[in-house]
Amino acid sequence: MNYSLLIEERKSTRSFTDKTVPASVGEEIRKYHDSDCMRLVPEIATELYIAPAAAKESLEGAAGYKEFLAGAPEYMVLLSQPHGHMGVNAGYITEDISLKLNEMGYGTCFVTFTESQAIKDALGIESEKEVAAILAYGSPLKAKKKLHFNFFTMSGISSKEKHQYFAPKKSVEQLVFLDSYGSNKDVFEYIDLHEDVLWDPLLAASNSPSYMNRQPYAFVIKDDKITLVSLPDEFTGEIDNALNLGVVMQHFASTAKYHRGNAVWSLEPGVVENLPEGAKEIAVFDI
Ligand SMILES: Cc1cc2nc3c(=O)[nH]c(=O)nc-3n(C[C@H](O)[C@H](O)[C@H](O)COP(=O)(O)O)c2cc1C
Repeated sequence: MNYSLLIEERKSTRSFTDKTVPASVGEEIRKYHDSDCMRLVPEIATELYIAPAAAKESLEGAAGYKEFLAGAPEYMVLLSQPHGHMGVNAGYITEDISLKLNEMGYGTCFVTFTESQAIKDALGIESEKEVAAILAYGSPLKAKKKLHFNFFTMSGISSKEKHQYFAPKKSVEQLVFLDSYGSNKDVFEYIDLHEDVLWDPLLAASNSPSYMNRQPYAFVIKDDKITLVSLPDEFTGEIDNALNLGVVMQHFASTAKYHRGNAVWSLEPGVVENLPEGAKEIAVFDI
């Protein structure tokens, strides 16, 4: 897959045509999940579940922003073995599958949820594995302009929250620091030294989807290592936060891989100085 291009062009799809998605698409992504899909923690067992048409309505009642989701033609659920890194791993895998679907011409959108069991009940899933991510997909409706759809019709959402959906993505300048958190001095000079090998992954990271477009994370470069830091955020809960972090690591690794052959995040703390209160070091990548 041409990850750089797919990531540059991606955006969430929330308006779909009525066209049925052929069952072969579900089979293809299941096969992709079982074989070629990128994985953050390969030893965590996962399974792809395609929601049957009959269960769509109950799923739509149990998941989505404020329990609200404009109906999508199909939903896939990533089931995972419970594990300390289950959420980040699920975000990483699901974003990879999402980009695969984009490549196949389908639009996608992550769907937030708060309780694995509620989703299992809604879908009648009997499994020891947990619901770790949900992705809606289908043929995108070509919108005349990038209308952020159903948020307008959502009740109970504050204007402060609404504002997030229209906010631009964080730029590389806002996302990346050098030597210590908060320090931008010479950061572009450092990235320039590594040319596209570092620019591509950082641009891809900046174009990551995140819950409510908050992007509550940052990167700190020190001693030729880059540490991903999770930042506290008043809107983002634990599940969405882990998914966000998995997504941004997938964007970084998939584009870095093109330049370096392999690209691995180690899920261990780095040595970041000056971290704000509530921030947490998540993973380290050797530049
Ligand atoms: C963990 C996660 C949960 C999300 N949940 C929802 C959701 O329930 N409904 C929705 O419409 N969009 C959802 N989104 C999509 C984000 O709102 C979207 O990525 C963000 O607004 C940025 O827009 P973009 O994806 O078009 O770049 C979710 C994204 C992530 C990563």
